Amino acid sequence: MYKTKAYSAAGETAPLASTTIPRRDPTEHDVQIEILFCGICHSDLHQVRNQWKSVMPTVYPCVPGHEIVGRVTSVGSAVTKFKPGDITAVGCMVDSDRTCPECQAGLEQFCPNGTLTYNTPDKHLGGVTYGGYSDSIVVDQRFVLRVPPNLSLAGAAPLLCAGITTYSPMRHWGVTKGKKVGVVGLGGLGHMAVKIAHALGAYVVVFTTSPGKKDDARRLGADEVVVSRNADEIEKHAGSFDFILDAVSAEHDINADINLLRRDGNITMVGAPDKPLPVSVFGLIFKRRSFSGSPIGGIPETQEMLDFCGAHNITADVEVIPIQKANEAYERLLKADVKYRFSIDMASLRTE
Ligand SMILES: NC(=O)c1ccc[n+]([C@@H]2O[C@H](COP(=O)([O-])OP(=O)(O)OC[C@H]3O[C@@H](n4cnc5c(N)ncnc54)[C@H](OP(=O)(O)O)[C@@H]3O)[C@@H](O)[C@H]2O)c1
Ligand SMILES: [Zn+2]
Ligand SMILES: [Zn+2]
Repeated sequence: MYKTKAYSAAGETAPLASTTIPRRDPTEHDVQIEILFCGICHSDLHQVRNQWKSVMPTVYPCVPGHEIVGRVTSVGSAVTKFKPGDITAVGCMVDSDRTCPECQAGLEQFCPNGTLTYNTPDKHLGGVTYGGYSDSIVVDQRFVLRVPPNLSLAGAAPLLCAGITTYSPMRHWGVTKGKKVGVVGLGGLGHMAVKIAHALGAYVVVFTTSPGKKDDARRLGADEVVVSRNADEIEKHAGSFDFILDAVSAEHDINADINLLRRDGNITMVGAPDKPLPVSVFGLIFKRRSFSGSPIGGIPETQEMLDFCGAHNITADVEVIPIQKANEAYERLLKADVKYRFSIDMASLRTE
């Protein structure tokens, strides 16, 4: 075991603050990574503030961060996929049982015994896992990914959660050329969804509550932009979408979105508001529409997404910040005031 620098929260109302945390010495299958960049996902904020206490209560101290890009510093004796110096990435999961049907299908995100990157029992050290707002991390090679060499590292980090969480349901629901796709909420996830849906060839319409994001939405790849506080503009699109991805982090009117779907259309929630959303079932019944959810993606699909982003030169639009600005970044995230993802330059932690 060794100590590494990190930022952690001591409780649900406590700010993130500088600390040190233990990491295991690499075992034979492990890769030790010096973290270069870590994205700030809204899930980090939900978890740090214990907003999901009914589903996954937070254990403190909590070190968030699951959009990790870094350089390999050492590998265990049985590691075949990576060597020191390689640029690698780690997303939302660091382990699973590897034996259940979900793992065998490469769908580790559904493993009943999975280990998330933070706030999950740590099989090696006890306590809970600690995430990427830290100097280094040690992960089994099976959960380490390769970053295409043409991508900027600060912009690639958010692909590890925002990228895969939007790519996976769009692939599952058959987003392709000729499909009309809605993206609700132009935040970290939403802006990745626009880029990926556009690259998949879909006709993309963004629904945003922020009029100031209209021009950006087009630049990111949207064919149309609707300011969703304007009921008339929404009505024009009623009954026309094949698929809608809802990436909103707070309570909102889901029935207005459901009414945008055509017959047999699907709306998938990736946004995870802490309170239940009331659904009018008639909106579903009349057009045989479906309403579903989707969590991140499995390891093979995460690598597929990274390679897809490499081939299409897709990264997140990031505002790079030092870790000392993480608390301020959380406040801005709550105001939808980031274009469109914060990416922490972890060199800032090493100067502390
Ligand atoms: N399913 C999964 O596996 C998974 C993975 C990662 C994250 N998530 C969840 O996905 C959600 C989005 O994450 P993120 O990192 O993209 O967050 P984010 O960057 O904060 O974006 C959320 C966006 O939602 C819109 N929004 C916020 N409050 C709203 C409100 N009251 N009514 C309507 N729209 C509102 C805003 O977009 P506009 O300004 O365009 O309106 C905002 O930019 C979070 O709940 C997060 O926990 C889920
Ligand atoms: Zn996330
Ligand atoms: Zn499993």
